[in-house]
Amino acid sequence: MSENPASPTTPSKPRVLSGIQPSGILHLGNYLGAISNWVADQAHYENFFMIADYHALTSVSDGAELRKNRREIVAMLLACGIDPQQSVLFYQSQLPEHTELGWIMTCLSPLGWLERMTQYKDKSAKYAQEGISTGLLTYPALQAADILLYQAQGVPVGEDQRQHVELTRDLAQRFNHLFGETFTIPQVFIRKEGAKVMSLTEPVRKMSKSDKESDGRIELLDSADVIRRKIRRAQTDSLREICFSDDPERAGVNNLLELYKILTHKEPATITAEFEGKGYGELKDAVADVVVAVVNPIREEYHRLLTDRAHIEQVMAGGKERAQAVARKTLGKVKKRIGMV
Ligand code: TYM
Repeated sequence: MSENPASPTTPSKPRVLSGIQPSGILHLGNYLGAISNWVADQAHYENFFMIADYHALTSVSDGAELRKNRREIVAMLLACGIDPQQSVLFYQSQLPEHTELGWIMTCLSPLGWLERMTQYKDKSAKYAQEGISTGLLTYPALQAADILLYQAQGVPVGEDQRQHVELTRDLAQRFNHLFGETFTIPQVFIRKEGAKVMSLTEPVRKMSKSDKESDGRIELLDSADVIRRKIRRAQTDSLREICFSDDPERAGVNNLLELYKILTHKEPATITAEFEGKGYGELKDAVADVVVAVVNPIREEYHRLLTDRAHIEQVMAGGKERAQAVARKTLGKVKKRIGMV
């Protein structure tokens, strides 16, 4: 652990903000696309990582479940290696500044900009029968507020969040143009590797927390046996050739190879040579081994941390204070600009 807790006023490091919804058990896509990068780059940035519990209200409508998810996700982020000395970890709902700026951003958002968001279109199609919450539409305006409150220079996320960060940039520019220079325009930080981990059962779609069937995703709490079973059942094809490919027909094999590449840090040519003349069963066993090696220690650490409620509460209370010092300052400036002070 570092001796010097990250201070919201440390000027020397660029600031990043990212968030994650407490809407279910985290999976390998969340880990490889976002969390592992947050952890790897923790020392290079001034980090704000937020549990997006207000965002989760668009899909979770059970208080006890949300309460449980919130605590579990903190334990999971700590187990993955987020260090509260280096990173400010907080719950979105602890800070009313988010919903306040969220409303201001909603008013600034042309309806067409929100209706164009692919995540809104996908989710509204998926939940059409159950009824769609208006929150799904205005969701990206709240996400813009999350980012802009911290004047973040970078937003480290997976590929599926690119469009939301681009919208945030547009909203920040619109605000600055209408009311005067106020917000830093954030960059999206997306690493090529792991940016879009695909479902094991439907490999043309991303691995997702919200899929009803859990066979498509490796959850970070899955036991070694469950991981092996899910990978053994992963969809492949009838070509029996092990090589990287962007052919959608070969998306299953490609996804397994991509997972193997990111977790072993081997070059594609080395991997192709390694599996030459071998079958999908051998590829799946090899992928399962490297996945188990990553997930096992995280799961064990998670169970240890979850029992230490006092530690989790202490981390989140400290995070709230540090986050609020920054958020309050930005909101004060915004309110002056829009004529509310
Ligand atoms: P959420 O909770 O869906 O996902 C958290 C992070 O995991 C990444 N991710 C993936 N990466 C690779 N492959 C996948 N299959 C995969 N699935 C998820 C996401 O890209 C994300 O980085 N709207 C956000 C939460 C949020 C937020 C924010 C993010 C709220 N406010 C401000 C950044 C900044 C979301 O729903 O993430």
